[in-house]
Amino acid sequence: MLSYISAKDAAKKWNISQRRVATLCSEERIGGAMMVGNMWIIPANAEKPIDKRTVRYEKTHKTELKPFVKWVGGKGQLIDEIEKMFPADGEKFLKKYAEPMVGGGALFFSVLSKYRFKELYISDINSELINAYAAIKQDVEALIVRLNEMQMTFLPLDDNGRKYYYYNIRDKFNTLELSDNTSVEKAAYFIFLNKTCFNGLYRVNRKGQFNVPMGSYKNPTICDEENLRNIHSALRNVTIVCGDYTLSKSFIDSKTFVYIDPPYRPISETSAFTSYNSDAFDDNEQIRLAKFIDEINEVGAKIVLSNSDPKNVNPEDNFFEDLYKSYTIHRVSATRMINSNAEKRGRINELLICN
Ligand SMILES: C[S@@+](CC[C@H](N)C(=O)[O-])C[C@H]1O[C@@H](n2cnc3c(N)ncnc32)[C@H](O)[C@@H]1O
Repeated sequence: MLSYISAKDAAKKWNISQRRVATLCSEERIGGAMMVGNMWIIPANAEKPIDKRTVRYEKTHKTELKPFVKWVGGKGQLIDEIEKMFPADGEKFLKKYAEPMVGGGALFFSVLSKYRFKELYISDINSELINAYAAIKQDVEALIVRLNEMQMTFLPLDDNGRKYYYYNIRDKFNTLELSDNTSVEKAAYFIFLNKTCFNGLYRVNRKGQFNVPMGSYKNPTICDEENLRNIHSALRNVTIVCGDYTLSKSFIDSKTFVYIDPPYRPISETSAFTSYNSDAFDDNEQIRLAKFIDEINEVGAKIVLSNSDPKNVNPEDNFFEDLYKSYTIHRVSATRMINSNAEKRGRINELLICN
């Protein structure tokens, strides 16, 4: 004969509140639960249901990891919104995480800090950025030594001294070819330049040379040893790839959560969001990406894609509505630089598109 327990005992057993048990019962999420009088009773062998509130994807309380570079389009502000889109029953199904346009990895590092996905995949078209991820994974101690040397030399200098040092490192970065032997040195230059250049921008000229001027930070942290070591440990089961996002297709399966954050379709004439490298991410690129999204949707992956909302500028612009007809489009509010003038920040909508 089936035996029953009270909502109070179920709450104790599952380590949730009694009220939560009642809600789950009324949502019919606990098979066999019955209302007797004004109280719920629950089959003694009922399993704790998994839902948005209880799901953890084996959530861990690991060290908090932070992006090691500042990156244009960084998604720090949207992390909570994106995490809400992890499907309710994801714990059962999602074992893998892929972020094929990782940039500075705001969401990626949050995920690495909180969840234990079995396998992770990151990629980016920017070879210098990916080299830095790889150097942290492979030789973090050598990288820390070089960054500390640079920090100790740079910080005590006066303005002119700093300028001279910055432009010297920028020249070295532009002339040293990337190879296995130069990987750590180039990663050190890359991180140094990111921490000391204007607004953490990464911009190259037609010849592919980094050309951002020096910024005006008083006391930038060039070497955050602790964070770099923590990232090093966390990267153990992460595959790091330099190249086009389509390369991630062989990694992605029905058990994969995929987050894609492409360079924005510029939201105004003067917007410079797409200058990560010499190739702009134009509408044709957005269309190519949408085809890829369709392919991984077919495979059964859970997908979240972010983008700027063209309706911020032109309410008639249905570009993404047309492109992602069979997907759900959420609008979330964020503070953004709304044109090339850094002073002009405002609240605008961003799109989160998911399947
Ligand atoms: C908006 S940023 C991503 C920002 C990231 N979400 C963060 O939090 O820092 C877009 C990234 O896509 C990369 N990218 C551009 N075209 C790409 C391509 N075809 N394949 C892979 N990555 C690409 C850029 O180099 C850039 O780092």
